[in-house]
Amino acid sequence: MAQVKSLKILFVTSEVVPFIKTGGLADVSSALPQKLQELGHQVRIVVPKYGSIDERKYKIHEVVRLKDLTTTIGKKEVIYSLRSSFLVGSKARVQIYFLDNEEYFGSRNSLYIDPLKGTEYKDNDERFILLSKSVFELIEKLGWVPDVIHLNDWQTALVPVFQKTIYKDNEVFQNIKTLLTIHNIRQQGIFPKNNFEKTGLPEEFNNNNFALFNDKLNFLRTGLKFADNISTVSETYSNEICNIPEISSGLIEEINARKNDLFGIINGIDTLIWNPEKDKKIAKKFSADNLKNKMKNKEELADKFDLKFNPEIPIIGMISRLEDIKGFDLLKQTFKQIMDLDVQLVLLGTGEKKYHKFFEDAEIKYANKFACYLGFDDVLAHLIEAGSDMFLMPSKYEPCGLNQMYSLVYGTIPIVRKTGGLADTVENYELNGKKGNGFVFENYETKDLLETIEKAISLFRDKKAWEKLMKNGMKINFSWLNSAKNYVSLYKKIVKQ
Ligand code: GLC
Repeated sequence: MAQVKSLKILFVTSEVVPFIKTGGLADVSSALPQKLQELGHQVRIVVPKYGSIDERKYKIHEVVRLKDLTTTIGKKEVIYSLRSSFLVGSKARVQIYFLDNEEYFGSRNSLYIDPLKGTEYKDNDERFILLSKSVFELIEKLGWVPDVIHLNDWQTALVPVFQKTIYKDNEVFQNIKTLLTIHNIRQQGIFPKNNFEKTGLPEEFNNNNFALFNDKLNFLRTGLKFADNISTVSETYSNEICNIPEISSGLIEEINARKNDLFGIINGIDTLIWNPEKDKKIAKKFSADNLKNKMKNKEELADKFDLKFNPEIPIIGMISRLEDIKGFDLLKQTFKQIMDLDVQLVLLGTGEKKYHKFFEDAEIKYANKFACYLGFDDVLAHLIEAGSDMFLMPSKYEPCGLNQMYSLVYGTIPIVRKTGGLADTVENYELNGKKGNGFVFENYETKDLLETIEKAISLFRDKKAWEKLMKNGMKINFSWLNSAKNYVSLYKKIVKQ
């Protein structure tokens, strides 16, 4: 490897695989730090220790210097510790610190939503103010001063403003730069304006020019103002949030004000976990040269979902949060017509109640055509990617999306709407297969969704053309290497600023 100046990166996030996961952020928070470290940089991660993280299994241990730290949230004094473990990959071993506080994290298994009420925890602001403040204590107590603090989403977005206000006189923090990555601009961390006091920020920030937005405390918007640079998880999404008000979720002006500091870097996939030749979670490994084994996965998938296996009928897989923006409103409206086609559909995921009800009913109504598992199951997710013929992601917006990439490398043809990272990774089948690796539709309309599924089913009958399409996808390299290198260039640029 050419000699590179090694950077120190502190990666702050609210979820990391394999410890805890609700979405793609957890995959990124695991794979990217490992890749950066493989490239010769020093990375450490900070994440809350939720009740469901198994301390024994992950050997999370005490660090004397980081025990019983105190901070204030509003007028409240809070005591917490940072405990340590390692994220162990095949090549890299990344140090990870767990923020340990019983009241805010340890006593709760769920990350953001109160499972009893089905709504966000009322004190999410306090919980993530604590996460943000702990970052400064960690740096100071360890004496490990990063070049860049890499922040992710609203949960960590107050770090830059804290650095520039509360901690500004502390020399230790003065040269640190911040990068805020937006994985989803819709989640902003919005709280009543009276909660401003909890942040501990100076009173002159208590207005719509700084910490408030539309008279509410808004974490992400504050982050957009104060982070040294901003990134999102695909090029197309970074353009969309600048140009399409609905996608920007009200922040279009704020984003445009930072346009020169905004970058789009597509996520990669963890090829140790998502690789059909080595996947530990599927019984029959396969590759572009051994597609017979993919069929065995299909058989097992049909069996798991109690569908009658028929090699001639395509199975469409879906793994998703069940919510409107993932395209479920479109799907629901088209569902009956899809069920009239010669196809089987399997679904894995959880989400809005109305969709749980809809799909539970549909499973009965369309026996042998549709089946679902409304929960989390990682092993099943791998089998769906391996065994399905097609994979459906009709998202209204999709900052990056990972499942379409997993699908491509598993020879499972993605059917997607042209938005965000889906637009950047799936290319529409055209010119008799000279171009493309999947099926893409542009308008968010039922007609377009249905027609595109029909197109895919009709090509599926042409065995040769279909196999060619599968192979086009299977040879793409989505490994994190390129994206991690792009992050390194960005960090270097920020450090020089
Ligand atoms: C969010 C986005 C998703 C993206 C993931 C990781 O979950 O909705 O599109 O892939 O973050 O960046």
